[in-house]
Amino acid sequence: MARASMDDMVVTVANEGLLASLGAAYLSPKELRTSIRNIQSKTHQPFQVNLQAPAPFPIVDNPSTIDSQSLHSQFESTLAQIKKELSFNKEMSEPKKLDYTFEDQLKVVLEEKIRIFSFTFGCPTKEQIESLQNNNTIVMGTVTSVEEAKFLESRGVDYIIAQGSESGGHRGTFLTNVPQGSEMLSTLALVPQIVDAVKIPVIATGGIYDGRGIHAALSLGASLASLGTIFLPCKESSANDLWKRALLDRTKNRPTVVTRAATGRHCRVIKNTLIEKISPVNSVLRPLPYHNAYMKDLYADAQKQGNDEYIPLLAGQGYRSLRNVPLEKYPNAGELAKWLISELQKPVKSKRLEF
Ligand SMILES: Cc1cc2nc3c(=O)[nH]c(=O)nc-3n(C[C@H](O)[C@H](O)[C@H](O)COP(=O)(O)O)c2cc1C
Repeated sequence: MARASMDDMVVTVANEGLLASLGAAYLSPKELRTSIRNIQSKTHQPFQVNLQAPAPFPIVDNPSTIDSQSLHSQFESTLAQIKKELSFNKEMSEPKKLDYTFEDQLKVVLEEKIRIFSFTFGCPTKEQIESLQNNNTIVMGTVTSVEEAKFLESRGVDYIIAQGSESGGHRGTFLTNVPQGSEMLSTLALVPQIVDAVKIPVIATGGIYDGRGIHAALSLGASLASLGTIFLPCKESSANDLWKRALLDRTKNRPTVVTRAATGRHCRVIKNTLIEKISPVNSVLRPLPYHNAYMKDLYADAQKQGNDEYIPLLAGQGYRSLRNVPLEKYPNAGELAKWLISELQKPVKSKRLEF
């Protein structure tokens, strides 16, 4: 989880024997190398480095010019309202282009001889995948449809990560638009279809919050279950405190939605005022990471004010299940990992029906 699962999370979870992931997408090559070496100095367990790979084909998602003009001015006036509400007076400047590429980050993964590499948003080239595998790296990639799973298999990846629509954070969809051209299959529907369609092992992700969810994923034919949102409130997570509190807030019952409004790419977030106001102009927002960068100072201000209505609250559909996870008792990722392992020993209970 980029910006949330960083060094501390990886070390703690890996030391409990689970496969942790360094959400490295927004790290420069230099930062990535530093993180990898820091983690390696604190654990001998394998861990994954996760990056955002470029989409193999361009995906067009532009409204007509007339629509675009009116939506742009709608965005500007909505932003002006939000700024007024937050008494935010700073100048918002056009974000700079990143001075590194996926290729630069991948070079570090190769040089540091990372055992497991995972990616989302697209796919490395066949040559890149082969050079990782020749370097003794296992390569796994995220998909949201059977077509994408077959595409990755044909490119030669080792494992498929099947991301159901319940998942928190960004959609990994890369062969179609999200959500217009994508059916957004749930984990329950997606995993068995992919298991039947490809020969390589499948990892299930999305909507898994306890032993029941893990057992369900394995019963569908997945070889592993991958959990995201559940780790966000932990002490080791780099999510900010306001976000952590929002995830556990029992006083509100906000739904989640998939929208570009928070970051510039389709992403499942808790629907707060920010999302309600910006979602109608989704199609004219700058793409990730530029919308995020453009809004950065405004989000930081809202955070300082303790106002969770104007910060991105990435979360999976099952985030309310966190209320049933004994996080007061297990606030650390290591203890949470132990709890998840203990959950697996428990038999799944269901009420018997009598006819
Ligand atoms: C805050 C957040 C950040 C995420 N960042 C990434 C990422 O950088 N790379 C990635 O492959 N998946 C990312 N994901 C998706 C997760 O890997 C996973 O698919 C998802 O969390 C599973 O669903 P769940 O949230 O219901 O557990 C992110 C998810 C969240 C909640």
